[in-house]
Amino acid sequence: MKLGRLNHVGVAVPSMQDAMAYYRDVLGAEVITQPFDMPEQGVKVAFVNTPGQDGTAGTQIELIEPLGADSPIASFIAKNPAGGQHHLCYEVADIEAARAWFEGQGKRILGPTRIGAHGTPIFFLHPKDMLGQLTEIMETPREQH
Ligand code: CO
Repeated sequence: MKLGRLNHVGVAVPSMQDAMAYYRDVLGAEVITQPFDMPEQGVKVAFVNTPGQDGTAGTQIELIEPLGADSPIASFIAKNPAGGQHHLCYEVADIEAARAWFEGQGKRILGPTRIGAHGTPIFFLHPKDMLGQLTEIMETPREQH
C-alpha cells in the first residue's frame, strides 16, 4: 500500500460556533462548510481549509462537536474541556487494499468501513496500535485533487 497525503486533522471542540469564530477570526482560515450533523456517528462536523499559497489544495481541519449525550466525542471533551487534537486522516487510493494492509499487520480496525464526512469510504485504526494517534484512512477519488 502507498499512503497519500494528510487529508485532515480532526479537532474535538466543545462549541462549534466558538471554534468556527476562532479559525476564521484568529487564524484567518476559511471555514468551507457550515456545520452538519452526522447522527449515526454522534457528531456535528464542519471543515476549515488551509489552502496552499500557490492555490494548491491544502490540509483541512475537521471540527467535531459532540451530538447527543452518548456521543463518542463527549468523553473526549470531558477529559479535554478546551477541546484538542482527536485524529489524523490520511488518503489512500483503494480503501479495501488499505484495510487488508493494516489487518495484515495485526492493527486493530474500529468497526466496519463506512461513509465518512466527505462522502467517501473511511475506517479508523486503534490509537494504541498507531503511535498513540487515532488514525482515519480515507479513500479519495482522484478528481478531488
Ligand atoms: Co475525520
